[in-house]
Amino acid sequence: MKRYTVALIKGDGIGPEIIDEAVKVLDAISVKEDLEITYKEALLGGSAIEMKGTPIPPETIEIAKSADAVLFGAIGGPKWDDLPRDQRPETGLLKLRKALEVFANLRPVRVYDELINASTLKPEVIKGSDLIVVRELTGGLYFGEPRGYEGEKAFNTMVYTKDEVRRIAKKAFEIAMKRNKKVTSVDKANVLEVSQLWRDTVNEVAQEFPEITLEHMYVDNAAMQLVRDPKQFDVIVTGNIFGDILSDEASMLSGSIGLLPSASIGEKYGLYEPIHGSAPDIAGQGIANPIAMIASAAMMLKYQFGEERAANRIEEAIKKVLKEGYRTRDIAAFDAKEVVTTSEMGSLIAQYASEL
Ligand code: IPM
Ligand code: MN
Repeated sequence: MKRYTVALIKGDGIGPEIIDEAVKVLDAISVKEDLEITYKEALLGGSAIEMKGTPIPPETIEIAKSADAVLFGAIGGPKWDDLPRDQRPETGLLKLRKALEVFANLRPVRVYDELINASTLKPEVIKGSDLIVVRELTGGLYFGEPRGYEGEKAFNTMVYTKDEVRRIAKKAFEIAMKRNKKVTSVDKANVLEVSQLWRDTVNEVAQEFPEITLEHMYVDNAAMQLVRDPKQFDVIVTGNIFGDILSDEASMLSGSIGLLPSASIGEKYGLYEPIHGSAPDIAGQGIANPIAMIASAAMMLKYQFGEERAANRIEEAIKKVLKEGYRTRDIAAFDAKEVVTTSEMGSLIAQYASEL
């Protein structure tokens, strides 16, 4: 039997409901794959503010570092929106990413054939799209100094070092080697020095990967190309803020942001979370889509634990529930046979994943 410990950060809004479904699925496949996963809960975001007076209590970082991986739901909500920046729930998440040095955020975008009509884009445009956004996560505009809000003036700094660009570029090229061997590096090198350094560095790293086709694209053009012809992309590598924006945009190829998982990885630690937020407006109603969270757990099995077969069980089970027409409310309008709750969706995926 293989044993793993997972730090569980439920967070705010729909976070707790979707995490519960991911655990349900993990427990179901553990039996089949002879795994023993033990969970250790930690507080982050709004719930941590309520219980501990800070968005990231020190023990959360300890628990996260002592576990083999971190599974994270979502944070934030209107209740904490008016707090100063360094006390907001989001600051907790950014500090956690930084503490774990998970510099590479992998956001795969898959279009499920069963949901081809769920996208607002034309089926012929999106059918067969399969891309991954590799977003730099611990640098750039989110973390650059100086920053500040001083009366009539406020400022942030977009800064990257060559080392930071090298390691994310290398990660993107390695991922592309296992896919269709194409990398699109997205920047704003026609305006920003930081993007010029980004581009030069990506070109240098490309020398080590002669089999990869590399192209550079300005971020404004990339935003347009993503909806014009998403099939042209394989691996998109970009900085923190551009990656944040482009991955939300790309999620609409799949029809619902409730479907897309992510993995944040570094040299040592791994943080697995859906790309969507805490959706406070629908929290506690049992209508949230747990698929992005469950698919994030599958990414954890694959990337962190090397448990490919267990991960495949989950991915196949997700395809099967969609094929059979089970839909949560966000995707209910599209070829639904039955509209199910968050928990029913989790149970179905757990059941199918263990039957496979
Ligand atoms: C994301 C989120 C976060 C980000 C927020 C909640 C800080 O939008 O994971 O994409 O901007 O990185
Ligand atoms: Mn985002």
